[in-house]
Amino acid sequence: YVVDKGNHRHFMTKEIHEQPDVVGRTLSHYLDLPNGRARPPEGIDFSAVDRLALTACGTAFYAGSIGRYWFERIARLAVDIDVASEFRYREPPLSPGTLALVISQSGETADTLASLRHVRQAGARVAAVVNVRESTIAREADLVLPTLAGPEIGVASTKAFTAQLAVLAATAVAAGRARGVLPAEEEVKLVRALSEVPRLMTEALRLEPQIETIAREIARVKDVLYLGRGTSYPLALEGALKLKEISYIHAEGYAAGELKHGPIALIDETMPVVVIAPYDGLFEKTVSNMQEVAARGGRIILITDRRGRAAADVGAVETIVMPDMPAAITPLVYAIPVQLLAYHTAVLMGTDVDQPRNLAKSVTVE
Ligand code: G6P
Repeated sequence: YVVDKGNHRHFMTKEIHEQPDVVGRTLSHYLDLPNGRARPPEGIDFSAVDRLALTACGTAFYAGSIGRYWFERIARLAVDIDVASEFRYREPPLSPGTLALVISQSGETADTLASLRHVRQAGARVAAVVNVRESTIAREADLVLPTLAGPEIGVASTKAFTAQLAVLAATAVAAGRARGVLPAEEEVKLVRALSEVPRLMTEALRLEPQIETIAREIARVKDVLYLGRGTSYPLALEGALKLKEISYIHAEGYAAGELKHGPIALIDETMPVVVIAPYDGLFEKTVSNMQEVAARGGRIILITDRRGRAAADVGAVETIVMPDMPAAITPLVYAIPVQLLAYHTAVLMGTDVDQPRNLAKSVTVE
């Protein structure tokens, strides 16, 4: 595997553009695409699992937070999720049917490793979604679900994030089947939808020139709000994290429905609000939140699809129109514009995009 920037200005943009390949490779490892089935992960009997306890840090935590929706919806499996640094302090009771799942790109993050050791000591089995196969977390876990992202150099995680999402989605499908709650035709539909992700990501990457223009507006402000509902909510949190990590602009992600419980007080004519809202079952609810923003002069940057654009007459100042896709896979593909927006803003701010100040690729202290 060659670790250089190729024709790219930064590792981060190279890694963003690698995502169709990386996700395609990871999905073909977990899915039997021709037959529309998920391959059952070796060493996990999901019919004997009654609870998943997810822990991770940073971007991996947001991948897990999206995975939670999939495991609950597709596999009807109860999921707890914590940031790794808090998990132990909560002292959660672990039932014999609890499977712990830690998620880490590097496999070396101290907090995540500590949570792994904590649950193993309590007697639970631990599966690890990791990118670095030789890492400590990969060695200490009972079983490993690898992400096939290749080395990630940019401190701000991009391709490892979508590879984690690919593993979590595929594993949720396998779990749904093992638990007898996912009819075969639904499994085929989900696998087909996942197999479309690389092509849809390539289409989303073509929106880069428009996103670069929008970044000029973001680069002028001090604060940005990101809103989403359902799986778009953790993606909003990830969008805000990406932006603050590399551009040093303050950003916050909120569940769209929480807007009225506080952050709405911040909205004025200077405030950009990035709304992640594919046209899905939750769309209409998010439209009413956008109306609340628009009524206060907030500058809405809407990431949606054609149907969403047609349906949302709320005066977004910018609309990023994504390709149409099934609702189950939107977080994988909508990650692209979210990452590109942070990247181009940071480039305009002149920060050290691949090595942002005060951050480390892998944090080995608690
Ligand atoms: C650091 C990095 C983040 C990353 C987090 C977790 O804070 O800057 O990009 O998401 O660690 O890292 P891991 O290797 O465990 O996924």
